[in-house]
Amino acid sequence: MNVAILGFGVVGSGVAEVIKNNCKSIEENNNVSLKVTRILDIRDFPDSEYKDILTKNFEDIVSDDSIDIVVETMGGVSPAFNFVSECLKKGKHVVSSNKELVATKGYELLTLARENNVNFLFEASVGGGIPIIRPISRCLAGNNISEVAGILNGTSNFILTKMIVDGMSFEAALKLAQDKGYAEKDPTADVEGLDAMRKICILASLCFGSQVYPDGVYSEGISKITLEDVAFAASYDSVIKLIARAKKLPCGKALVMVSPCLVKNSSMLSGVNGVFNACLVRGDMVGDVLMYGQGAGSLATASAVVGDVIDCAANAENRKFFGWGDKKDDYLADYLDCETALYVRAAADSAEKVKAQLLNIFGSVQYLTRENQGENEIAFVTPSGKEGDLRASLEKADINVLSVIRVSDY
Ligand code: HSE
Repeated sequence: MNVAILGFGVVGSGVAEVIKNNCKSIEENNNVSLKVTRILDIRDFPDSEYKDILTKNFEDIVSDDSIDIVVETMGGVSPAFNFVSECLKKGKHVVSSNKELVATKGYELLTLARENNVNFLFEASVGGGIPIIRPISRCLAGNNISEVAGILNGTSNFILTKMIVDGMSFEAALKLAQDKGYAEKDPTADVEGLDAMRKICILASLCFGSQVYPDGVYSEGISKITLEDVAFAASYDSVIKLIARAKKLPCGKALVMVSPCLVKNSSMLSGVNGVFNACLVRGDMVGDVLMYGQGAGSLATASAVVGDVIDCAANAENRKFFGWGDKKDDYLADYLDCETALYVRAAADSAEKVKAQLLNIFGSVQYLTRENQGENEIAFVTPSGKEGDLRASLEKADINVLSVIRVSDY
């Protein structure tokens, strides 16, 4: 079957390479023959082995009836949304790695795919090369899923790991992640939690059955985490991880959010290091399942894209029933109403006076220590409570709060 690729960047070029390298085994194992016949990109690639099939004109792809499957690896919503919509309307299957597109336009595109009797698949949009979407939608389909939590951004996990393991500064670790091709074009999306937020929106939509749009989902990144926080976390037998979570609450609403968390070293998520991602799914029949692997990178992500391409090719006449429903109003819970414990690092003129105040305010808190701790530096973990109440209580103490990080219960 003929395949076109929209966007010849890190992932798109990886898709061409995977198909070229593995076309023989793909054919032997799956009985489908794949050939990349067109690649769209606005840039010139005069030295590329694909220069003869490169085009800057989308019409060359959408109007070419010999192309059965279109891979979208452009990123961003515009023009990807229009391009994908046009391809689906033309009866072409579409495979996308574009989390922003799926998080913001997933329901619309899934509906369009159904109306046109074609597939719209996006395994690579969450967790790079790790199979997550298909296992949740197929293998775990017999469960009610109550919660999904994960480390879903390779760049921020790589940076945090470098800070924790090598004591590297945030800036130096970010530069290294960019050099290795893990980061988005604008790394703000990685380090401020937006990339992980888009991915957890996709998982929340898939697990709970209605589209969760990024608007209104709380996300906080890792750019304010310091080596002091890392050291205090270590004294609490924990590491700091960027956790994306979606949880069905007893009231029927869903808590969907991204933030750094202290994760105990005994947790399955604590040992997920470097560019690796992990996704923990809690099903009512299966219990906890952890999916783990490379969450970013050219060939790892392309591996997931090509898996979807093969699925489209093998089921070309047989559309898969897959997707979720429209958005529900008033569905997202306010994180300030949800239970958590908080790690706090602060400056205090008189540690003794503040300790007496904190005892009054919280009942008891657990104090943390680090090497070379400043004389006026204090760090502690509060008891669990409603986050909004805990934050209001903190304002009653004579401290200058420097960091607040949630303590995870995974
Ligand atoms: N920039 C993303 C990450 C790439 O670091 O995880 C994969 O989505």
